[in-house]
Amino acid sequence: MELENRVAVVTGAGSGIGRATALAFAQAGTRVVVADIDAAAASETVGLVHDVGGHASSVRTDVTEPRSLEALFAAAEAEHGGVDIVHNNAGLVSGEPLWPEITPETLLRVLNVNLGGVVVGTRLAIPVLRRRGGGAIVNTASMAALFPLTADPIYSATKAGVTMFTRACAPLAEEHIRVNAVLPGLVDTPLLPKSGDGDRWAEWAYAAEQVMGLLSPDDVAREVLDLVRDDTAVAQERVVGSLPLAPGDEP
Ligand SMILES: NC(=O)c1ccc[n+]([C@@H]2O[C@H](COP(=O)([O-])OP(=O)(O)OC[C@H]3O[C@@H](n4cnc5c(N)ncnc54)[C@H](O)[C@@H]3O)[C@@H](O)[C@H]2O)c1
Repeated sequence: MELENRVAVVTGAGSGIGRATALAFAQAGTRVVVADIDAAAASETVGLVHDVGGHASSVRTDVTEPRSLEALFAAAEAEHGGVDIVHNNAGLVSGEPLWPEITPETLLRVLNVNLGGVVVGTRLAIPVLRRRGGGAIVNTASMAALFPLTADPIYSATKAGVTMFTRACAPLAEEHIRVNAVLPGLVDTPLLPKSGDGDRWAEWAYAAEQVMGLLSPDDVAREVLDLVRDDTAVAQERVVGSLPLAPGDEP
C-alpha cells in the first residue's frame, strides 16, 4: 500500500512507540488520528506531527471501552473521509507489585488493554476498512509473546494472545484487510519506568536489557510502516531486534 494520502489511526500514540509510528506515518504523507487515553499527551503528538509538516488530529480514546473505540473510528471517518490503516498499539505493563502480589484489578486492566483493546479494535475497524475496499492493521505484540516473562505473566499472556489473534485473522485478507503484528524487544519508552515503581525500571527490565539491549521507538515504527506497505504481508509476526534465546526459553 502506498502511504501517501492514506489515513491511519494509531492507539497509544500519546507516547513511545505509538508516537514514533504516528510521526513516521505523517512523514510518509499519511494523515494520522492520534488516539490515547491521555488527551494532553495525544495533543502533544499532534503538535509534533504539525512540526514536521504532517496532518493529524486527536481523539481521547480508552481502548477498553467499545463505545470509545466506535467514537474514535466515527471521528476519523468524519474528519478524514475514511480509514485505511489501524495500528492497535496501546498497551501497558503491570508494574509493581509484580506477580503474584499484583492485584486482581491490575491483572484485568492489563488483560483488557493489551488483548481486549486489540481484539475489539480490530473488530470495530473491519466495517470501517471495508468501506475503503480494504486496509492494513498492525497489532503491537512483544518478544514477551515468545519468552515467558515470569515477573509479569499476564503481560506475556496478553502478547501471546495478540500474536495468535493476528494469525487467526489471516482470512480477512480475502477481503483485502491484512492483519500483522510487530514483536519488539525492549524499547526505550516511558513504559520502562512503569515496569517498576513508576520511576525506576523493574529488575526484569534491567535483566532483559543485559540480554537483548535497547531498541528505539523509531526501530519499531519502521517495521510497522514496512508491514503496511508490503501487500504480501499477511498474519506476519515481525520480530524487532535480535532474538536472545530460542523461543520458549526463559531469559
Ligand atoms: N517499551 C517496550 O519495551 C515494549 C516492548 C515490546 C512491546 N511494547 C508494546 O508497545 C506498545 C506501546 O508501548 P510503549 O512502550 O510505547 O509504552 P508507553 O507507555 O510509552 O505508551 C503507551 C501509551 O498507551 C496509552 N494507553 C494506556 N492505556 C490506554 C487505554 N486504555 N486506551 C488508550 N490508550 C492507552 C498510554 O497513555 C500511553 O500513551 C504497548 O502495547 C507495549 O506493550 C513495548
